[in-house]
Amino acid sequence: MKNPNLNSVLNKEEFDKRDIIYMLSLTDKNEVENLYYRANEVRKEFCGDDVHLRGIIEFSNYCEQDCLYCGLRISNDALPRYRMTKDEILATVEHIHKAKIFTVVLQSGEDFSYTKEFISDLIREIKLNYGLAITLSLGERGFEEYLEWKNAGADRYLLKHESANKKLYSAIHNKQSLDERIKHLVYLKSIGFQVGSGNIIGLPGQTPDDIADDILLCKSLINDMASFSPFIPSNDTPLCNVSKADVQLTLKTMAVARIVLKDAHIPSTTALGSLIEGGREKGLEVGANVVMPNYTPNPYRQNYKIYEGKICVTDDPLACSGCLKFKIESIGRKVGESFGHSLK
Ligand code: 5AD
Ligand code: FES
Repeated sequence: MKNPNLNSVLNKEEFDKRDIIYMLSLTDKNEVENLYYRANEVRKEFCGDDVHLRGIIEFSNYCEQDCLYCGLRISNDALPRYRMTKDEILATVEHIHKAKIFTVVLQSGEDFSYTKEFISDLIREIKLNYGLAITLSLGERGFEEYLEWKNAGADRYLLKHESANKKLYSAIHNKQSLDERIKHLVYLKSIGFQVGSGNIIGLPGQTPDDIADDILLCKSLINDMASFSPFIPSNDTPLCNVSKADVQLTLKTMAVARIVLKDAHIPSTTALGSLIEGGREKGLEVGANVVMPNYTPNPYRQNYKIYEGKICVTDDPLACSGCLKFKIESIGRKVGESFGHSLK
């Protein structure tokens, strides 16, 4: 390694904000490669070679929120909406179970037509019949609801903080506030959920300083999982003309997050795979250890249109995990055969 300063930063145990901004700002090709190399080493040391698959079911694209970046926002009248029934969701869980995937992620927009009881019954039925680990990703819901779902057997909750910069947060969210979001994350953790948060990279006006704060927020929340996904514009949203995220900045953010967060589960996102060909494999080589095959059935899957050009939406959902398993093995990694619970 030519740059002794870089070497000493990469090998630190603890990182302050200056270190993080320094790593994010690297541009020299060799230095960036060194960063990726170190992230891969840290991933191997703390998480091993297993890549955990999480089968995701996007069961409703109705959303009461109006986030400027998101194609599901309530003001988007151009999007055909759908809600899956309990039987449809359970039939999809069965496919995930058969594929030997040990986690189901139940995701939707903020759709309160699915009541506390509906979700609790669903959780109990999945646990009883399939014994899968269950991750919920339903947006901001009530604290009572979270507690009941935890008691019903849900294991994890994903709620990205999206941006740790209060001003930016308020600019891109119509109703929500960052303080409120953090309260939810703290509560979820306090009742025993394994919690995931994370940001969107490439939001308009976002700086490396903001991304450093995003990573540090995940650290201070003791996130079990953390997701850093690239912004991709969505038609019919106020941010439709904003450029998509820079690929290298996305990969650097994932790498720095791995180096700083050490044993957190970090997904290589579908958005990264949509941003560049082979993106998910690349993400796995710069620190990620999780991928989320999309099991949302047809005809719904094409309408969970958070952004344009999402990969795999025209594929047979059952082919997706086979294809991902092949990709994982082709880069010398193993498909996890455990629940892939938190490493904390
Ligand atoms: N580009 C990338 N990611 C997005 N998300 C929402 N809209 C976009 C977009 N345009 C992410 C948010 C949300 C997750 C489900 O999708 O981070 O939490
Ligand atoms: Fe649905 Fe933001 S628009 S969560």
